[in-house]
Amino acid sequence: MGEEYTLKMGEKREVRENAEISLPGNEPLLSAKGVFKIFSGPAGDLEILRGVDFAMKKGGMCFILGRSGSGKTTLLNILATLDRPTRGEIFFREKNLTALGERDLARYRNGKVGFVFQFYYLLPELDILENVMLPGLMAKGRNLKSRAEALLEKLGLSDRIHHSPARLSGGELQRAAIARSLINDPEIVFCDEPTGNLDEKTAEQVLELIFGLNRVEKRSFCIVTHEKSMIRDFGTVYHLHEGRLERG
Ligand SMILES: Nc1ncnc2c1ncn2[C@@H]1O[C@H](COP(=O)(O)OP(=O)(O)OP(=O)(O)O)[C@@H](O)[C@H]1O
Ligand SMILES: [Mg+2]
Repeated sequence: MGEEYTLKMGEKREVRENAEISLPGNEPLLSAKGVFKIFSGPAGDLEILRGVDFAMKKGGMCFILGRSGSGKTTLLNILATLDRPTRGEIFFREKNLTALGERDLARYRNGKVGFVFQFYYLLPELDILENVMLPGLMAKGRNLKSRAEALLEKLGLSDRIHHSPARLSGGELQRAAIARSLINDPEIVFCDEPTGNLDEKTAEQVLELIFGLNRVEKRSFCIVTHEKSMIRDFGTVYHLHEGRLERG
């Protein structure tokens, strides 16, 4: 790679030549067909998703916008296989994930998917390095410690690796959560409001980091947000409204 890339914080770039990468036959990397999610409670059924169709290509950047309570987290959890749809199907390439049992699903998730949660969910009793290593332990990955250290360095957290999460700022926690999401080298990373708890400047830095990872490593990202300011002219924009996903 002739160009010098760095993903460290503060070093910005706004070049963008990344196009979504077509797979043979142009099939999507991840797709959803006719997804419904109904929560049943004492007050009756809540129909949150009402026939969601979705597709994204390898290397793609996808933004899902929607108001608070519109079902963004619900949808992201389903796309990431952390939750199951009431009806409908999720595919990774041609594999129907909805048909997999828990064990196969866990294996798939561990190898292919990264997740950055709305509220970080770093374990307070572990230091940052251990938090980043954790998903790798489950996947029995090799050179785990050195990979985690390299990721933390890439995300500008080398001098924080033995800190507990309680001693980190919001932006640092979010970067640690992004490092954790990448430890198993996932093909697609789901981010739930990755800048929701950050000030404007820190949010911009975290976004630049994500866009850099997408552009340089051709990693696919699916980002859920209620902030229109996060959206860039690259990538595909969806709106979640009344349980349906609309392009544009
Ligand atoms: N496990 C559950 N049981 C019952 N209702 C639920 C459950 N999870 C979510 N809901 C309801 O589904 C709706 C959508 O929730 P969700 O968390 O997906 O919204 P969101 O768009 O992510 O909101 P926010 O922007 O505030 O994060 C809400 O009305 C919520 O109360
Ligand atoms: Mg949410």
